[in-house]
Amino acid sequence: MSSDKSPQSDLHGLDPAKLPAHVAVIMDGNGRWAQKRLLSRIKGHEKGSEAVRTVVRTCREIGIPHLTLYAFSTENWQRPRAEVEALMVLLKKFLVKERQDMMEKNIRLGTIGQTDRLPEDVREALLQTIDVTRGNTALQLTLALSYGSRNEICQAMRAIAADIDAGRLQAADIDEKLISGYLFTRHIPDPDLLIRTSGEMRISNFLLWQIAYSEIFITPTLWPDFGADEFVRILKDFQSRQRRFGQVA
Ligand code: FPP
Repeated sequence: MSSDKSPQSDLHGLDPAKLPAHVAVIMDGNGRWAQKRLLSRIKGHEKGSEAVRTVVRTCREIGIPHLTLYAFSTENWQRPRAEVEALMVLLKKFLVKERQDMMEKNIRLGTIGQTDRLPEDVREALLQTIDVTRGNTALQLTLALSYGSRNEICQAMRAIAADIDAGRLQAADIDEKLISGYLFTRHIPDPDLLIRTSGEMRISNFLLWQIAYSEIFITPTLWPDFGADEFVRILKDFQSRQRRFGQVA
């Protein structure tokens, strides 16, 4: 068992000066991966959990400080009950099983979303892993759970309105920085790179405010087949892009 907390970096040929500070991922295609193999969708999610581990490990190796994964959306509650239950079981397993590894690899866990909607045992495992990894500093892994961007923006607007009602804030104080400070993501930078697997050309209610200037990469690969090599290729593509933030080069 390693207790190494020092940052070990394996850059896979990437330029360390141009690494994204935050990568966000829409993990899509578990169901289709399973369907193609005549397996149940749940098997697809199981295989998808392994891809989660690979991407977390690769981020840690390379030295990317923030990774946010869209693990369960507010809309996903409407899936068949057996599938929702299986996803919750997988999530809990991940949270318990990976706790030790997160400690060894200096990874801090965080979450965004309506986590009060999660089953009690999953919420407990989540809070415990967040708590024990609180002091870790090499990688902040954020799981979006019961997350929907429009819902996040609504709760931010309600909180801002309440602060105005209470006299703590004036309408004229509202600017982009203030709104960002009321979102679930207030402690993490906006994503530099958004990856979506399975080829779908949509954002699916994920980080709508935060991805205003993110580079977007959509790969046809189904999430369970997504591995370190492809992740590194995407990071190389990111490094070759010229980011202009609406200005001229
Ligand atoms: C989308 O695939 C994926 C999800 C709704 C859930 C993502 C969950 C995991 C990757 C596994 C559990 C997560 C963790 C963090 C351990 P889909 O089912 O929509 O695929 P389809 O579009 O092909 O049907």
